[in-house]
Amino acid sequence: MTYSKILGTGSYLPKKILTNFDLEKMVETTNAWIVERTGIHERHVAADNENAVTMAEQAGRIALEAAGIKPADVGMIIVSSTTPHMVFPSTACLLQEKYKIAGCPAFDLNASACAGFMYAFSIADQYIRTGAIKNALVIGSEVMSRVIDWEDRSTCVLFGDGAGAVVLGASDTPGILSTHLHADGTHKDVLYLPLGSGKSPNLETVKMMGNQLFKLAVNTLGDLFDETLAVNGMQKSDIDWLVPHQANMRIIDAMAKKLNLPMERVAITLDKQGNTSSASIPLALDQAVRDGRIQRGQILMMEGFGGGLAWGSALVKY
Ligand code: COA
Repeated sequence: MTYSKILGTGSYLPKKILTNFDLEKMVETTNAWIVERTGIHERHVAADNENAVTMAEQAGRIALEAAGIKPADVGMIIVSSTTPHMVFPSTACLLQEKYKIAGCPAFDLNASACAGFMYAFSIADQYIRTGAIKNALVIGSEVMSRVIDWEDRSTCVLFGDGAGAVVLGASDTPGILSTHLHADGTHKDVLYLPLGSGKSPNLETVKMMGNQLFKLAVNTLGDLFDETLAVNGMQKSDIDWLVPHQANMRIIDAMAKKLNLPMERVAITLDKQGNTSSASIPLALDQAVRDGRIQRGQILMMEGFGGGLAWGSALVKY
């Protein structure tokens, strides 16, 4: 039986950091409010010459190096982004040009923002399991700062920019144990980003009903954990690490409690990076892998949740 395995991870964060104290000068908010309600202290913001492609390129190169895979050997590129540089060509095709590789399938995936990485991860896993490809470069890259209303204090304090990448490769042993994807369009109004008038930039800004979203996230993710564990015949006690989407520390805290995990067993980047939408899961994974907390053989629960609503998980033997 063929499984897919995480061979390498990588990250890119823009140099510019925007702190809560910087935000105090921009909107009516306080560092204390942001820290207490969200857990966020600062976030990275892309420079004018950075975009989803440039950030994905860097994160992808680092992940390929960690995996020991040459760009020419990549069998598929999937980029999850709701803030791509262009509608087309896709970020993934623009990456192919930068990596000087051509021929393999390459596409962007928009699974309504923050759940996107779990969707991309799951698709790559399916292609590898069936033997259609040997390895895949899966990237989440987001420039949320360009779709935020910087005068809306209820959203501008939450988001940040960055890219995270994972290389998946075929393996005789697990690997990714299972992935689970869901969506429910009836909650379309709790988080959305409309298209603009057709003039560039052709997007409006993020609209969110934070409170409702919060409750939906906590309930939905609890059920998702149960489903993921049941399919694998596993118990909560089998999980070594939670690698969650980074939206709000109170949501992450509730998720850790649902899995009976102490916070030391949760990969957290939210405090320093804010919510980087579909980049947040691979960013958190990469950090915990690089600083040695996540070790080979450990069991990871990964989960993402976002607008749509769309949500997904993966149970992974790292
Ligand atoms: N600074 C100070 N006050 C703020 C503020 C800010 N940045 N943003 C909102 N407030 C105010 C509100 O205006 C409101 O004031 P009021 O009581 O006078 O009306 C008060 O704080 C409480 O607002 P509320 O929205 O109920 O706060 P909350 O505890 O729900 O926290 C969020 C708000 C956004 C942090 C929280 O709801 C959240 O994180 N939700 C989930 C977000 C999410 O997951 N998004 C992405 C999904 S991928």
